[in-house]
Amino acid sequence: MTPELENLFSFLRFPSISTDSNHAGDVRACAEWLVSKLTGMSLAAELHETPKHPVVVARNIHVAGRRTVLIYGHYDVQPVDPVSLWTSDPFQPVIREGKIWARGSTDNKGQMMAHVLGVEKTLRENRELPVNLIFLFEGEEEIGSPSLASFLLHHCDELKCDVIAISDTGMVGLNMPTLSYGLRGIACCDVILRGPKGDLHSGIFGGAVANPAAAMARLVSSLHALDGRVMIEGFYDQVRPLEAWEHEMWATLPGVTDADFLQYTGSPGLFGEPGYSSAERTWARPTAEVNGIGGGYQGEGSKTVLPAEAFAKLSFRLVPDQNPKDIMEKVISHLEWHCPPGVEVEVRPGHDGKPYATDPNSKFGLAAQAALRTSFGADPVLIREGGSIPIVQTFRDILGADTLLLGLALADSQIHAPNENFPVEHFEAGIRLNQALLKELAK
Ligand code: BES
Ligand code: ZN
Repeated sequence: MTPELENLFSFLRFPSISTDSNHAGDVRACAEWLVSKLTGMSLAAELHETPKHPVVVARNIHVAGRRTVLIYGHYDVQPVDPVSLWTSDPFQPVIREGKIWARGSTDNKGQMMAHVLGVEKTLRENRELPVNLIFLFEGEEEIGSPSLASFLLHHCDELKCDVIAISDTGMVGLNMPTLSYGLRGIACCDVILRGPKGDLHSGIFGGAVANPAAAMARLVSSLHALDGRVMIEGFYDQVRPLEAWEHEMWATLPGVTDADFLQYTGSPGLFGEPGYSSAERTWARPTAEVNGIGGGYQGEGSKTVLPAEAFAKLSFRLVPDQNPKDIMEKVISHLEWHCPPGVEVEVRPGHDGKPYATDPNSKFGLAAQAALRTSFGADPVLIREGGSIPIVQTFRDILGADTLLLGLALADSQIHAPNENFPVEHFEAGIRLNQALLKELAK
Protein backbone atom coordinates (compact mmCIF):
# COMPACT_ATOMS: atom_id res chain seq x y z
CA MET A 1 0.00 0.00 0.00
CA THR A 2 1.20 3.53 -0.80
CA PRO A 3 2.10 5.89 2.07
CA GLU A 4 -0.82 8.09 0.91
CA LEU A 5 -3.29 5.25 1.38
CA GLU A 6 -1.69 4.35 4.74
CA ASN A 7 -2.40 7.91 5.87
CA LEU A 8 -6.00 7.78 4.72
CA PHE A 9 -6.54 4.39 6.35
CA SER A 10 -5.27 5.68 9.72
CA PHE A 11 -7.64 8.63 9.42
CA LEU A 12 -10.58 6.36 8.52
CA ARG A 13 -10.05 4.09 11.53
CA PHE A 14 -11.32 6.77 13.94
CA PRO A 15 -15.09 6.32 14.48
CA SER A 16 -15.55 10.09 14.60
CA ILE A 17 -19.36 10.08 14.62
CA SER A 18 -20.29 13.61 15.63
CA THR A 19 -23.95 13.07 16.44
CA ASP A 20 -23.30 10.27 18.96
CA SER A 21 -22.03 11.51 22.35
CA ASN A 22 -20.61 8.04 23.03
CA HIS A 23 -18.10 8.80 20.28
CA ALA A 24 -17.02 12.24 21.52
CA GLY A 25 -13.65 10.78 22.60
CA ASP A 26 -13.12 9.29 19.12
CA VAL A 27 -13.93 12.61 17.47
CA ARG A 28 -11.33 14.31 19.69
CA ALA A 29 -8.73 11.59 19.08
CA CYS A 30 -9.24 12.05 15.35
CA ALA A 31 -8.68 15.83 15.69
CA GLU A 32 -5.50 15.20 17.70
CA TRP A 33 -4.25 12.79 15.05
CA LEU A 34 -4.83 15.49 12.43
CA VAL A 35 -2.89 18.07 14.44
CA SER A 36 0.09 15.73 14.64
CA LYS A 37 -0.15 14.89 10.92
CA LEU A 38 -0.19 18.60 9.98
CA THR A 39 2.56 19.49 12.44
CA GLY A 40 4.68 16.74 10.85
CA MET A 41 4.28 18.57 7.53
CA SER A 42 5.92 21.65 9.08
CA LEU A 43 2.64 23.54 9.32
CA ALA A 44 1.67 25.43 12.47
CA ALA A 45 -1.35 23.40 13.59
CA GLU A 46 -3.64 24.04 16.54
CA LEU A 47 -6.62 22.34 18.08
CA HIS A 48 -9.33 24.80 19.16
CA GLU A 49 -11.99 23.85 21.68
CA THR A 50 -15.65 24.55 20.91
CA PRO A 51 -18.74 23.71 23.00
CA LYS A 52 -18.74 20.31 21.24
CA HIS A 53 -16.08 18.98 18.89
CA PRO A 54 -12.70 20.62 18.20
CA VAL A 55 -11.80 22.75 15.20
CA VAL A 56 -8.31 22.20 13.72
CA VAL A 57 -6.52 25.10 12.05
CA ALA A 58 -3.12 24.87 10.35
CA ARG A 59 -1.09 27.30 8.26
CA ASN A 60 2.26 27.72 6.55
CA ILE A 61 4.35 30.85 7.09
CA HIS A 62 2.41 33.59 5.35
CA VAL A 63 4.29 35.94 3.03
CA ALA A 64 2.95 39.38 2.12
CA GLY A 65 1.86 39.74 -1.49
CA ARG A 66 0.87 36.12 -1.99
CA ARG A 67 -2.69 34.87 -2.39
CA THR A 68 -4.26 33.38 0.72
CA VAL A 69 -6.21 30.16 0.17
CA LEU A 70 -8.37 28.58 2.86
CA ILE A 71 -9.11 24.87 2.51
CA TYR A 72 -12.02 23.54 4.53
CA GLY A 73 -12.99 19.96 5.30
CA HIS A 74 -14.77 17.94 7.96
CA TYR A 75 -13.34 15.01 9.87
CA ASP A 76 -16.61 13.92 11.48
CA VAL A 77 -18.73 11.18 9.90
CA GLN A 78 -22.32 9.95 9.86
CA PRO A 79 -23.48 7.01 12.02
CA VAL A 80 -23.09 3.54 10.48
CA ASP A 81 -26.41 1.91 11.26
CA PRO A 82 -27.65 -0.54 10.12
CA VAL A 83 -24.24 -2.17 10.62
CA SER A 84 -25.53 -5.56 9.44
CA LEU A 85 -25.79 -4.22 5.88
CA TRP A 86 -22.06 -3.44 5.65
CA THR A 87 -19.96 -5.95 3.72
CA SER A 88 -16.93 -5.06 5.84
CA ASP A 89 -16.34 -3.19 9.11
CA PRO A 90 -17.10 0.53 8.53
CA PHE A 91 -14.01 1.54 10.54
CA GLN A 92 -11.61 -1.08 9.14
CA PRO A 93 -11.00 0.28 5.63
CA VAL A 94 -10.32 -2.22 2.85
CA ILE A 95 -9.74 -1.96 -0.89
CA ARG A 96 -12.00 -4.02 -3.15
CA GLU A 97 -12.77 -3.45 -6.85
CA GLY A 98 -10.50 -0.40 -6.93
CA LYS A 99 -12.44 1.35 -4.18
CA ILE A 100 -11.80 2.17 -0.54
CA TRP A 101 -14.67 0.90 1.62
CA ALA A 102 -15.23 2.65 4.96
CA ARG A 103 -17.45 5.22 6.67
CA GLY A 104 -16.08 8.62 5.67
CA SER A 105 -14.08 7.26 2.72
CA THR A 106 -15.84 9.79 0.49
CA ASP A 107 -17.68 12.06 2.96
CA ASN A 108 -15.36 13.62 3.82
CA LYS A 109 -12.13 11.99 4.99
CA GLY A 110 -10.95 10.72 1.59
CA GLN A 111 -11.52 14.06 -0.09
CA MET A 112 -10.07 15.94 2.87
CA MET A 113 -6.94 13.77 2.93
CA ALA A 114 -6.47 14.51 -0.79
CA HIS A 115 -6.22 18.20 0.20
CA VAL A 116 -3.73 17.44 2.96
CA LEU A 117 -1.57 15.09 0.88
CA GLY A 118 -1.61 17.40 -2.16
CA VAL A 119 -0.16 20.09 0.08
CA GLU A 120 2.31 17.65 1.63
CA LYS A 121 3.54 16.54 -1.79
CA THR A 122 4.00 20.13 -2.97
CA LEU A 123 5.92 20.91 0.21
CA ARG A 124 8.12 17.88 -0.29
CA GLU A 125 8.81 18.71 -3.95
CA ASN A 126 9.28 22.49 -3.64
CA ARG A 127 9.99 23.00 0.08
CA GLU A 128 7.30 25.66 0.11
CA LEU A 129 3.83 26.43 -1.16
CA PRO A 130 3.07 29.04 -3.84
CA VAL A 131 0.31 30.52 -1.64
CA ASN A 132 -0.46 31.41 1.95
CA LEU A 133 -2.44 28.41 3.13
CA ILE A 134 -4.99 27.99 5.90
CA PHE A 135 -6.45 24.56 6.65
CA LEU A 136 -9.73 24.72 8.58
CA PHE A 137 -11.12 21.34 9.61
CA GLU A 138 -14.23 20.87 11.74
CA GLY A 139 -15.82 17.93 13.53
CA GLU A 140 -19.46 19.06 13.43
CA GLU A 141 -20.42 19.31 9.75
CA GLU A 142 -22.72 16.32 9.85
CA ILE A 143 -24.71 17.88 12.69
CA GLY A 144 -25.11 21.27 11.01
CA SER A 145 -21.84 23.01 12.09
CA PRO A 146 -23.33 24.49 15.31
CA SER A 147 -20.01 25.96 16.53
CA LEU A 148 -18.35 27.10 13.32
CA ALA A 149 -20.07 30.41 12.61
CA SER A 150 -19.15 31.76 16.03
CA PHE A 151 -15.61 30.35 15.59
CA LEU A 152 -15.34 32.31 12.32
CA LEU A 153 -16.54 35.49 14.00
CA HIS A 154 -13.96 35.12 16.78
CA HIS A 155 -11.07 34.28 14.41
CA CYS A 156 -12.13 36.45 11.50
CA ASP A 157 -8.75 38.18 11.16
CA GLU A 158 -6.64 35.01 11.23
CA LEU A 159 -8.95 33.38 8.69
CA LYS A 160 -9.00 36.24 6.16
CA CYS A 161 -8.44 34.81 2.71
CA ASP A 162 -8.88 35.48 -1.00
CA VAL A 163 -10.65 32.24 -1.83
CA ILE A 164 -11.82 28.99 -0.24
CA ALA A 165 -11.58 25.46 -1.65
CA ILE A 166 -13.64 22.47 -0.53
CA SER A 167 -13.82 18.90 -1.80
CA ASP A 168 -17.11 17.71 -0.30
CA THR A 169 -19.41 17.51 -3.32
CA GLY A 170 -19.87 15.21 -6.30
CA MET A 171 -18.61 14.36 -9.77
CA VAL A 172 -20.98 13.37 -12.58
CA GLY A 173 -19.04 10.15 -13.24
CA LEU A 174 -15.77 8.30 -12.75
CA ASN A 175 -12.84 10.52 -13.83
CA MET A 176 -15.21 13.26 -15.04
CA PRO A 177 -13.85 16.44 -13.46
CA THR A 178 -16.67 18.55 -12.04
CA LEU A 179 -16.83 22.09 -10.71
CA SER A 180 -19.94 22.78 -8.63
CA TYR A 181 -21.08 26.37 -8.42
CA GLY A 182 -24.19 25.98 -6.26
CA LEU A 183 -25.48 24.21 -3.17
CA ARG A 184 -28.99 23.94 -1.83
CA GLY A 185 -29.81 25.39 1.55
CA ILE A 186 -31.81 23.57 4.18
CA ALA A 187 -34.38 24.13 6.92
CA CYS A 188 -35.32 21.28 9.26
CA CYS A 189 -38.09 20.80 11.81
CA ASP A 190 -39.80 18.23 13.99
CA VAL A 191 -43.59 18.10 13.98
CA ILE A 192 -45.50 16.57 16.89
CA LEU A 193 -49.24 15.94 16.92
CA ARG A 194 -50.84 15.30 20.29
CA GLY A 195 -54.29 13.78 20.86
CA PRO A 196 -55.55 11.96 23.99
CA LYS A 197 -53.63 12.23 27.26
CA GLY A 198 -52.34 8.66 26.86
CA ASP A 199 -52.52 5.69 24.47
CA LEU A 200 -56.09 4.35 24.20
CA HIS A 201 -57.79 1.06 23.30
CA SER A 202 -58.69 1.60 19.65
CA GLY A 203 -61.90 -0.43 19.98
CA ILE A 204 -63.22 1.40 23.01
CA PHE A 205 -62.26 4.91 21.84
CA GLY A 206 -61.49 4.63 18.09
CA GLY A 207 -64.07 6.68 16.18
CA ALA A 208 -64.76 8.99 19.11
CA VAL A 209 -61.44 10.81 19.27
CA ALA A 210 -58.97 11.81 16.57
CA ASN A 211 -56.08 9.46 15.86
CA PRO A 212 -52.79 11.45 15.83
CA ALA A 213 -51.08 8.99 13.46
CA ALA A 214 -53.89 9.30 10.90
CA ALA A 215 -53.90 13.08 11.41
CA MET A 216 -50.15 13.14 10.74
CA ALA A 217 -50.64 11.28 7.48
CA ARG A 218 -53.17 13.93 6.41
CA LEU A 219 -50.97 16.79 7.56
CA VAL A 220 -47.89 15.48 5.77
CA SER A 221 -49.87 14.89 2.58
CA SER A 222 -50.95 18.55 2.63
CA LEU A 223 -47.34 19.54 1.87
CA HIS A 224 -47.50 18.44 -1.78
CA ALA A 225 -50.00 18.59 -4.62
CA LEU A 226 -50.66 15.25 -6.31
CA ASP A 227 -48.29 16.28 -9.10
CA GLY A 228 -45.40 16.88 -6.71
CA ARG A 229 -45.42 20.67 -6.33
CA VAL A 230 -44.94 22.01 -2.79
CA MET A 231 -48.22 23.54 -1.57
CA ILE A 232 -46.91 25.82 1.18
CA GLU A 233 -48.15 29.33 0.46
CA GLY A 234 -45.34 31.54 -0.84
CA PHE A 235 -42.83 28.66 -0.89
CA TYR A 236 -41.61 29.45 -4.42
CA ASP A 237 -41.80 33.26 -4.11
CA GLN A 238 -38.05 33.90 -3.78
CA VAL A 239 -36.86 31.10 -6.07
CA ARG A 240 -34.38 32.35 -8.67
CA PRO A 241 -35.43 30.77 -11.98
CA LEU A 242 -33.09 28.36 -13.72
CA GLU A 243 -30.99 30.18 -16.33
CA ALA A 244 -31.40 29.19 -19.99
CA TRP A 245 -27.69 28.27 -20.28
CA GLU A 246 -27.97 25.98 -17.26
CA HIS A 247 -30.97 24.19 -18.76
CA GLU A 248 -29.09 23.72 -22.03
CA MET A 249 -25.78 22.69 -20.51
CA TRP A 250 -27.24 20.23 -18.00
CA ALA A 251 -29.31 18.55 -20.73
CA THR A 252 -26.07 17.47 -22.43
CA LEU A 253 -24.21 16.22 -19.34
CA PRO A 254 -23.40 12.53 -19.04
CA GLY A 255 -24.22 10.67 -15.83
CA VAL A 256 -27.16 12.84 -14.75
CA THR A 257 -29.97 11.97 -17.17
CA ASP A 258 -33.33 10.82 -15.83
CA ALA A 259 -32.32 7.27 -16.80
CA ASP A 260 -29.16 7.63 -14.68
CA PHE A 261 -31.21 8.79 -11.70
CA LEU A 262 -33.46 5.74 -12.10
CA GLN A 263 -30.47 3.45 -12.29
CA TYR A 264 -28.58 4.94 -9.32
CA THR A 265 -31.59 5.01 -7.02
CA GLY A 266 -33.16 1.70 -8.00
CA SER A 267 -36.56 3.38 -7.62
CA PRO A 268 -39.47 1.97 -9.63
CA GLY A 269 -40.11 5.43 -11.09
CA LEU A 270 -39.12 9.08 -10.94
CA PHE A 271 -41.37 11.65 -9.28
CA GLY A 272 -41.03 15.38 -8.70
CA GLU A 273 -42.07 18.86 -9.67
CA PRO A 274 -43.52 18.87 -13.20
CA GLY A 275 -41.60 20.60 -15.99
CA TYR A 276 -38.07 19.82 -14.78
CA SER A 277 -35.51 17.07 -15.32
CA SER A 278 -34.19 15.15 -12.30
CA ALA A 279 -30.96 17.16 -12.36
CA GLU A 280 -32.94 20.40 -12.40
CA ARG A 281 -35.28 19.21 -9.65
CA THR A 282 -32.39 18.36 -7.35
CA TRP A 283 -29.94 21.17 -8.21
CA ALA A 284 -32.12 24.20 -8.88
CA ARG A 285 -35.56 23.63 -7.37
CA PRO A 286 -36.60 23.59 -3.71
CA THR A 287 -38.28 20.56 -2.14
CA ALA A 288 -40.12 19.38 0.97
CA GLU A 289 -38.96 16.02 2.34
CA VAL A 290 -40.24 13.70 5.04
CA ASN A 291 -37.11 12.27 6.69
CA GLY A 292 -38.99 10.25 9.28
CA ILE A 293 -42.54 9.62 10.41
CA GLY A 294 -43.98 7.57 13.22
CA GLY A 295 -46.30 7.00 16.13
CA GLY A 296 -48.16 4.08 17.62
CA TYR A 297 -47.22 0.42 17.59
CA GLN A 298 -44.17 -0.57 15.53
CA GLY A 299 -43.63 -4.15 16.78
CA GLU A 300 -44.49 -7.59 15.49
CA GLY A 301 -48.06 -8.49 14.66
CA SER A 302 -50.84 -6.08 15.53
CA LYS A 303 -51.75 -4.11 18.62
CA THR A 304 -55.06 -2.32 18.73
CA VAL A 305 -53.89 0.99 20.08
CA LEU A 306 -54.89 4.56 19.38
CA PRO A 307 -51.59 6.39 19.95
CA ALA A 308 -51.46 9.53 22.06
CA GLU A 309 -49.06 11.23 19.65
CA ALA A 310 -47.35 11.04 16.31
CA PHE A 311 -44.27 12.74 14.91
CA ALA A 312 -42.68 13.64 11.61
CA LYS A 313 -39.22 14.95 10.82
CA LEU A 314 -39.25 17.30 7.88
CA SER A 315 -36.57 19.08 5.92
CA PHE A 316 -36.80 21.60 3.13
CA ARG A 317 -34.02 21.97 0.53
CA LEU A 318 -33.75 25.55 -0.60
CA VAL A 319 -32.29 27.37 -3.57
CA PRO A 320 -31.19 30.98 -4.13
CA ASP A 321 -32.77 33.38 -3.06
CA GLN A 322 -34.89 31.54 -0.49
CA ASN A 323 -34.18 32.31 3.14
CA PRO A 324 -34.38 29.43 5.65
CA LYS A 325 -35.90 31.54 8.46
CA ASP A 326 -38.57 32.92 6.15
CA ILE A 327 -39.35 29.43 4.81
CA MET A 328 -39.64 28.01 8.35
CA GLU A 329 -42.20 30.70 9.22
CA LYS A 330 -44.20 29.72 6.14
CA VAL A 331 -43.91 26.04 7.07
CA ILE A 332 -45.18 26.68 10.59
CA SER A 333 -48.17 28.71 9.32
CA HIS A 334 -48.97 25.95 6.85
CA LEU A 335 -48.81 23.19 9.46
CA GLU A 336 -50.93 25.16 11.95
CA TRP A 337 -53.53 26.02 9.32
CA HIS A 338 -53.75 22.44 7.98
CA CYS A 339 -53.68 20.69 11.36
CA PRO A 340 -56.63 18.27 11.33
CA PRO A 341 -59.35 18.63 14.00
CA GLY A 342 -59.00 16.89 17.37
CA VAL A 343 -55.19 17.09 17.67
CA GLU A 344 -52.71 19.81 18.61
CA VAL A 345 -49.62 20.56 16.59
CA GLU A 346 -46.20 21.58 17.84
CA VAL A 347 -43.43 22.51 15.37
CA ARG A 348 -39.85 22.57 16.65
CA PRO A 349 -37.52 24.26 14.16
CA GLY A 350 -34.14 22.52 13.83
CA HIS A 351 -30.89 23.53 12.14
CA ASP A 352 -30.84 25.41 8.89
CA GLY A 353 -28.46 26.79 6.27
CA LYS A 354 -28.59 29.22 3.39
CA PRO A 355 -28.34 28.18 -0.27
CA TYR A 356 -25.26 29.20 -2.26
CA ALA A 357 -24.44 30.06 -5.85
CA THR A 358 -21.38 31.59 -7.43
CA ASP A 359 -19.98 32.28 -10.91
CA PRO A 360 -18.07 29.23 -12.22
CA ASN A 361 -16.26 31.51 -14.69
CA SER A 362 -14.93 34.04 -12.18
CA LYS A 363 -11.13 34.48 -12.01
CA PHE A 364 -10.84 31.80 -9.32
CA GLY A 365 -13.50 29.62 -10.99
CA LEU A 366 -11.39 29.54 -14.15
CA ALA A 367 -8.29 28.68 -12.09
CA ALA A 368 -10.22 25.75 -10.57
CA GLN A 369 -11.32 24.61 -14.03
CA ALA A 370 -7.70 24.70 -15.23
CA ALA A 371 -6.58 22.62 -12.23
CA LEU A 372 -9.35 20.08 -12.89
CA ARG A 373 -8.31 19.86 -16.55
CA THR A 374 -4.64 19.28 -15.66
CA SER A 375 -5.26 16.68 -12.99
CA PHE A 376 -7.94 14.61 -14.76
CA GLY A 377 -6.87 15.21 -18.36
CA ALA A 378 -10.41 16.19 -19.41
CA ASP A 379 -12.57 19.29 -19.61
CA PRO A 380 -14.53 19.91 -16.41
CA VAL A 381 -18.32 20.01 -16.36
CA LEU A 382 -20.21 22.68 -14.40
CA ILE A 383 -23.06 21.69 -12.13
CA ARG A 384 -24.97 22.73 -9.03
CA GLU A 385 -25.53 20.33 -6.15
CA GLY A 386 -28.63 19.03 -4.41
CA GLY A 387 -26.84 18.60 -1.08
CA SER A 388 -26.04 21.30 1.43
CA ILE A 389 -22.87 22.64 3.02
CA PRO A 390 -24.39 25.52 5.00
CA ILE A 391 -21.03 26.92 6.08
CA VAL A 392 -20.23 27.90 2.49
CA GLN A 393 -22.64 30.85 2.46
CA THR A 394 -21.57 31.67 6.04
CA PHE A 395 -17.96 31.88 4.79
CA ARG A 396 -19.11 34.46 2.27
CA ASP A 397 -21.11 36.38 4.90
CA ILE A 398 -18.34 36.44 7.54
CA LEU A 399 -15.03 36.10 5.68
CA GLY A 400 -16.17 37.75 2.44
CA ALA A 401 -14.69 34.97 0.31
CA ASP A 402 -16.27 32.70 -2.28
CA THR A 403 -15.79 28.93 -2.39
CA LEU A 404 -14.56 26.59 -5.12
CA LEU A 405 -16.41 23.28 -4.79
CA LEU A 406 -14.11 20.60 -6.17
CA GLY A 407 -15.88 17.43 -5.13
CA LEU A 408 -14.74 13.89 -5.83
CA ALA A 409 -17.84 11.91 -4.73
CA LEU A 410 -19.74 9.59 -7.06
CA ALA A 411 -23.49 8.96 -7.15
CA ASP A 412 -22.84 5.40 -5.98
CA SER A 413 -20.37 6.33 -3.22
CA GLN A 414 -23.18 5.53 -0.71
CA ILE A 415 -22.42 8.52 1.50
CA HIS A 416 -24.52 8.47 4.72
CA ALA A 417 -25.45 4.84 3.89
CA PRO A 418 -23.99 1.37 4.42
CA ASN A 419 -20.96 0.44 2.27
CA GLU A 420 -19.66 3.95 1.68
CA ASN A 421 -16.82 3.81 -0.82
CA PHE A 422 -14.33 6.02 -2.67
CA PRO A 423 -12.47 5.12 -5.88
CA VAL A 424 -8.70 4.89 -5.33
CA GLU A 425 -8.35 6.72 -8.67
CA HIS A 426 -10.29 9.70 -7.30
CA PHE A 427 -8.13 9.79 -4.20
CA GLU A 428 -4.99 9.89 -6.35
CA ALA A 429 -6.46 12.41 -8.79
CA GLY A 430 -7.54 14.52 -5.80
CA ILE A 431 -3.94 14.74 -4.61
CA ARG A 432 -2.84 15.89 -8.09
CA LEU A 433 -5.79 18.28 -8.22
CA ASN A 434 -4.72 20.02 -5.04
CA GLN A 435 -1.15 20.41 -6.28
CA ALA A 436 -2.44 21.92 -9.54
CA LEU A 437 -4.94 24.11 -7.70
CA LEU A 438 -2.33 25.78 -5.52
CA LYS A 439 -0.29 26.54 -8.63
CA GLU A 440 -3.25 27.97 -10.53
CA LEU A 441 -4.49 30.05 -7.61
CA ALA A 442 -1.01 31.54 -7.15
CA LYS A 443 -1.02 32.99 -10.69
N1 BES B 1 -20.87 16.32 1.69
C1 BES B 1 -22.23 16.46 2.08
C2 BES B 1 -23.01 17.41 1.19
C3 BES B 1 -23.04 17.07 -0.26
C4 BES B 1 -23.00 15.76 -0.70
C5 BES B 1 -23.14 18.07 -1.16
C6 BES B 1 -23.05 15.48 -2.06
C7 BES B 1 -23.21 17.79 -2.49
C8 BES B 1 -23.15 16.49 -2.95
C9 BES B 1 -22.31 16.94 3.51
O1 BES B 1 -21.46 16.23 4.36
C10 BES B 1 -23.70 16.70 4.01
O2 BES B 1 -24.11 15.59 4.11
N2 BES B 1 -24.41 17.78 4.33
C11 BES B 1 -25.70 17.71 4.93
C12 BES B 1 -25.93 19.05 5.57
C13 BES B 1 -26.84 19.04 6.75
C14 BES B 1 -26.46 18.10 7.85
C15 BES B 1 -26.93 20.47 7.28
C16 BES B 1 -26.79 17.44 3.91
O3 BES B 1 -26.70 17.88 2.76
O4 BES B 1 -27.76 16.78 4.28
ZN1 ZN C 1 -22.32 14.25 4.82
